[in-house]
Amino acid sequence: MATDFATRLVDWQHEHGRHDLPWQNTRDPYRIWLSEIMLQQTQVATVLGYYERFLNKCPTVRDLAAASDDVVMALWAGLGYYTRARNLHKAAKIVVEQYDGAFPNDVDALAALPGIGRSTAAAIAAFAFDNIAPILDGNVKRVLARHAGVEGFPGTSAVEKKLWLEAESRLPAQPSDMVAYTQGLMDLGATICSKRSPSCMLCPVNIDCAARIEGRIEEIPAAKPSKPLPHRTQRYLLAVHADSVLLVKRPPSGIWGGLWCLPELSNDSSAAVDDLMLNARFAIKRVTRREKMNPLDHSFTHFKLTLNPLLVEVSQLTSQASEPGLMWFSFTDLADAALPKPIKTLLLPYIAR
Ligand code: ADE
Repeated sequence: MATDFATRLVDWQHEHGRHDLPWQNTRDPYRIWLSEIMLQQTQVATVLGYYERFLNKCPTVRDLAAASDDVVMALWAGLGYYTRARNLHKAAKIVVEQYDGAFPNDVDALAALPGIGRSTAAAIAAFAFDNIAPILDGNVKRVLARHAGVEGFPGTSAVEKKLWLEAESRLPAQPSDMVAYTQGLMDLGATICSKRSPSCMLCPVNIDCAARIEGRIEEIPAAKPSKPLPHRTQRYLLAVHADSVLLVKRPPSGIWGGLWCLPELSNDSSAAVDDLMLNARFAIKRVTRREKMNPLDHSFTHFKLTLNPLLVEVSQLTSQASEPGLMWFSFTDLADAALPKPIKTLLLPYIAR
C-alpha cells in the first residue's frame, strides 16, 4: 500500500514543486494574503510585477489601511476584477482597527474579512500559521475530482460539497507539513494535473487516481452543462405522383443551402387550407391519400429541428405553373440527388437501390 496522499504530495512538493515565487519563504500574513487575492483571478506571470510594486508602496497592512482609495486603485489598475482591490482596502482597515494590525490566525476569522472566501482563508492560514485547513480553488477541484473520481460539474453546490469532503479527508496530520502540502496541491494543479493532457506519469498520486485508473482523465471533471438548443418544428410535404417525389431547391445560403429538400408547409393550416395550398403552390389537383408521418428529429449546431412530414399521394396535376424551384424527381433519380440527411431518411422507402 502506498503512503498516504498527503505524504506523497508533501515529498513531491519538496523535490519538484515551486520554491522561488516571491510570496513563498515568508510567513508574513499580509504578504501572503495580498498574493492570494491577486492570484484569485490572475496568472502568476502577471501578478509578479504588480505584487512587487504594491509592496513597495504599501509594505505593511497599516500602510495599506492608511492609503487613499486612489492610490490603491492605481496600484491595482490593469489587474481587473476591481472588487478585489476595494475589498482588500476594506479588509486592511478592519485588520488595523479590530485586530491592531495583526491578522487573525484562524480560518473562520480570516474568512469573515471582505474578499476572503473559505479556500483563500485556508491558504493564508496554512502558509502563515501552519493551520490544518483544506483549500479548494479551481485547480484543486480538478485534482481532487480526478483523484477521487467525483462525477458531475464542480460548479454545482452538490459536487462542490463532495469535493470539500475529499479535501478534508486528505489533509496531513502534522501542522509543519501544511505549507508544502497546500503549495503542493496548487503546484500539482498548475503544472501536472492540467485540464488537457495532464502529465500523469510524473504525478505523485497517480497510482490511486480514480480517473487515471478508469481511463477517464478526459471526462473528469465534467464540463459545464451546455444550455439546451433552441427547438424548431417544421411541416414538410412529401408528395408522391407516378413514381416521382416533389422536391424544391433550397436557396444557396442558410440551412441546407443549394440542396434538394421537401417543400415546407405552413405549420398551422387546416386540411382545407392545405388543399388550397397544394393546388396553388404545387399544381396538385387530386389527392388519393393523405397521412401524417412520424416526426423526425434532427440536430444542427445551433438548433434542433423536428420535421413533421405530410404524405400526399397525388393522382392528378393541374397544367398551371407551380412555384419556382420545384421539381418532380423520379424514384430512380433520388439516389443521386443532393439531399439533406433527414430528408434522405424520410425518402428512404422511395430511393431506388
Ligand atoms: N495560486 C493561488 N495561490 C498560489 C500560490 N500560493 N502559488 C502559486 N499559485 C497560486
